[in-house]
Amino acid sequence: MAEDPRLALLEYCRETGTTYGTEDFSVFLYSYVKMSKPERVVELGTGVGTCALMIAQALKENGKGSLFSVDDGSHWGNLQHHPVIERLRGGTPVEAQLFFARLAKQLEVDAFVQFARHRVPPLPSFELPLDILFSDFDHSPDGILTLLRHYLPQMAPVSSIFIDSASTHLPSCLLLEALCREFNQGTMPASMLVGTKADRAEKLRHFIAGHQFQLIHMVENKDREQNSTAWIKIQPRDFVPHPLVKMH
Ligand SMILES: C[S@@+](CC[C@H](N)C(=O)[O-])C[C@H]1O[C@@H](n2cnc3c(N)ncnc32)[C@H](O)[C@@H]1O
Repeated sequence: MAEDPRLALLEYCRETGTTYGTEDFSVFLYSYVKMSKPERVVELGTGVGTCALMIAQALKENGKGSLFSVDDGSHWGNLQHHPVIERLRGGTPVEAQLFFARLAKQLEVDAFVQFARHRVPPLPSFELPLDILFSDFDHSPDGILTLLRHYLPQMAPVSSIFIDSASTHLPSCLLLEALCREFNQGTMPASMLVGTKADRAEKLRHFIAGHQFQLIHMVENKDREQNSTAWIKIQPRDFVPHPLVKMH
């Protein structure tokens, strides 16, 4: 690994990023975090840590914010044999979260990221609003409904939800198109409220009524499976883009 921690981080992400096809998307997230300066970022599915480390580096350069990345470790049995990971752990078996915590320390981004072992369901909940949510473990239509039902009321007024692979999975792509169309009319389908208690349903209705939802399908021009990310960009209902800055 390079001596300069920033170069070492880039090297790690370049070498491991192709495992889940996030070698370029992680760079996009790095830039987006630098531009949008979030306080709270959540990642569901750490994988080999490519996006988590790039986000943590961007938060460090911003001088604020934190990333909470969860994973149930179900892929770790295989991932730990990636040549780069094997080299770094020196042949000694180590739990995924401990490996990433040590790596983050070595790369000097540990103050900006926390790795937790957690199996979804249940989806973790947060007291303070989330600026960026990156879901990278389930892009099924049911998974998307559950995700949005749970997190929309927890999102900040100006925020983003990224769902890996959803844009190139036809049922999920069509579901997202239909949902965002309804949300933008201030309504939602009954399936959004399945199993939802009255107070949460009210929060969901309130959030949807006050916000607009821009759906962006980010499709990578590469010949491989699962080549996309669906980006739901959220902001208060307005005719100008948020966050509000000086217009010219
Ligand atoms: C596609 S990978 C994540 C890739 C990563 N975000 C990146 O930057 O490349 C999906 C991860 O989700 C984890 N996972 C799968 N099902 C899960 C579940 N039910 N709860 C928590 N984590 C899960 C797997 O262990 C795997 O590491």
